[in-house]
Amino acid sequence: MIDKINDILKAVRDFKASDHGEIEEFRIKYLGKKGLIPSLFQEFKSVPPHLKSEYGKLINDLKDEASEKLNSLRASLAGTTESTSFTDLTRPAKNMFTGCRHPVSVVRNEIIEIFQRLGFTISEGPEIEDDDHVFTKLNFPPEHPARDMQDTFYIKRQDREDCRPDDILLRTHTSSVQVRVMENQQPPIRTISPGRVFRNEAISARAHCIFHQVEGLYIDENVSFADLKQTLFYFAVEMFGKNTRIRLRPSYFPFTEPSAEMDVSCTICGGKGCNVCKYTGWLEILGCGMVDPNVLDYCGIDSKKYTGFAFGMGVERAAMLKYQINDLRLYFENDIRFLHQFRSAF
Ligand code: DAH
Repeated sequence: MIDKINDILKAVRDFKASDHGEIEEFRIKYLGKKGLIPSLFQEFKSVPPHLKSEYGKLINDLKDEASEKLNSLRASLAGTTESTSFTDLTRPAKNMFTGCRHPVSVVRNEIIEIFQRLGFTISEGPEIEDDDHVFTKLNFPPEHPARDMQDTFYIKRQDREDCRPDDILLRTHTSSVQVRVMENQQPPIRTISPGRVFRNEAISARAHCIFHQVEGLYIDENVSFADLKQTLFYFAVEMFGKNTRIRLRPSYFPFTEPSAEMDVSCTICGGKGCNVCKYTGWLEILGCGMVDPNVLDYCGIDSKKYTGFAFGMGVERAAMLKYQINDLRLYFENDIRFLHQFRSAF
């Protein structure tokens, strides 16, 4: 029996396999139910008692070695196809998972690109702001409802005694970045400010407490409302397609005078009327206007010499119109089935 064990051991050690089929044959021959090693255990029953421990050890060692060999043979072929002798070149390639950008990033990048082509720079500001930059220097009267606790998340600072309880807050719009740019730079100014904003709103399909905006600001000598209109028209056509039309409706913002809201012709029906545009043919996309001279003066810019325009838009809203997304909450739920639909976008 010793000879038999040694022969099998030698054969196991010498064995070489070049594909999965040969490895499987090896397993059946040596370790399978009716294989050579299990049959040794059968024979072991008739070994005289005084030899049992010696023989037992040899057979067990053989079994361990054969199992290890099997594992290493399998490991050496891991990653190769089932059969190397048959290669089907027409077989579809393995699907490789690649990540994708979030639709909000896709649209934000697109907006940035369009304005960069017009020479706008990018400016950023803090998300935790003070009342001066979010409201006061933007000409919000002290009692303006936007300052209300209902809309604004206020932050109480523990470390500063002199800080008014309503002084530090999460910015409610990116217009605060306008103020920071104007405080630090003299015209000509031509910049956009993308960023996150926060409002104390109940979450629904149409409202969320966190969203994104892109703010725009252009200040120089002789900037007129016509410049604003032409800039926004260029943006609308680049963003929503060449047949897009725009219209400006009079509106009110404390920081612009005159102020307007811009609509684009409905991206679905092209203006004929459908349920997305509520049969008006128009979709509201942004707020804009000529920077109020008070704002220029508060920020250290000579309002007698310079004029400017500003605009602000919601990125989620622009993405909703572009991709026909009907619920704001989808952006924040991270449902892979939703996010995967934007895989091919840049
Ligand atoms: N800040 C405004 C908002 O959050 C949007 C806006 C409107 C920005 C008009 C502007 C503007 O710069 O001129 O609703």
